[in-house]
Amino acid sequence: MFIQTVKEYYHKHGRHDLPWRMTTDPYKIVVSEIMLQQTQVSRVIEKYYTFLKAFPTVQVLANASLQQVLLQWSGLGYNRRARFLHQMAQTVVKEKSGVFPKHFDELLELPGIGHYTAGAICAFAYNKPITIIETNIRTVFLYHFFNNSKEAQHDGLVKVADSELLPLIEKTLDQNNPREWYWALMDYGSYLKSQGIKIHRSSTHYKKQTTFKGSLREVRGAIIKMLTKHSATVLQVQKSTGFEIDRIEEAVQILIKEGIIGKKIKYSTIESCRTDIVILSIF
Ligand code: ADE
Repeated sequence: MFIQTVKEYYHKHGRHDLPWRMTTDPYKIVVSEIMLQQTQVSRVIEKYYTFLKAFPTVQVLANASLQQVLLQWSGLGYNRRARFLHQMAQTVVKEKSGVFPKHFDELLELPGIGHYTAGAICAFAYNKPITIIETNIRTVFLYHFFNNSKEAQHDGLVKVADSELLPLIEKTLDQNNPREWYWALMDYGSYLKSQGIKIHRSSTHYKKQTTFKGSLREVRGAIIKMLTKHSATVLQVQKSTGFEIDRIEEAVQILIKEGIIGKKIKYSTIESCRTDIVILSIF
């Protein structure tokens, strides 16, 4: 009955034409999966096309500069994802002769590849029956198997851990066509959410996305946007973005720690007054 419901929904209303579902190339799949973490499908589609036009293969991505990669990433946010994707490409080219690993454990060793992404590559690129879980899949299993006390769950009073869901996902997994089964689960989960069902909030993994406006994430995004075009001083960033110096300095420290930007000190002798100017640029 459960399997039937999911399959029926998928056959009638599934998103059969999503571009990353038309390929089994692990490189293209990993690009889509990293973009889809924390960004909605509708916003990813266009970026997926332009990114792959700029970097059609893992070799091209590995040889690009981080600045070029961030420029193509602009608009997606959470720029650390782009840096990890870039590092991952360099590792695949350098250590794997440009060929993506076939096994889960080996994929997991790549920079920025966690359990979900390694599993998603196995399922979507290689059609391997691996157990994976993400927000839409969670929604489906919570809705069908842990929905006894809806109000308590919606209030966040009853929490369900992934360890309770994973055995069910494993048990119901289509061993012959896991790829299509996961597409169906994701589409059905996305549909449930669109109907106002908020049961995914009862997962122990649920985290409310923080508001972008007014956040340090907004300041970081603005700095990166500027630096993808040219290097700049903190003062130039302040003039161009209008953010307070203190917040810019704070964001700069984080970006340096994350290895996204670097700073160079230049000595300036304007009118016999020696001052140090910090020039910021993408690594
Ligand atoms: N198809 C394959 N992976 C997907 C994902 N993470 N979200 C939506 N559709 C997908």
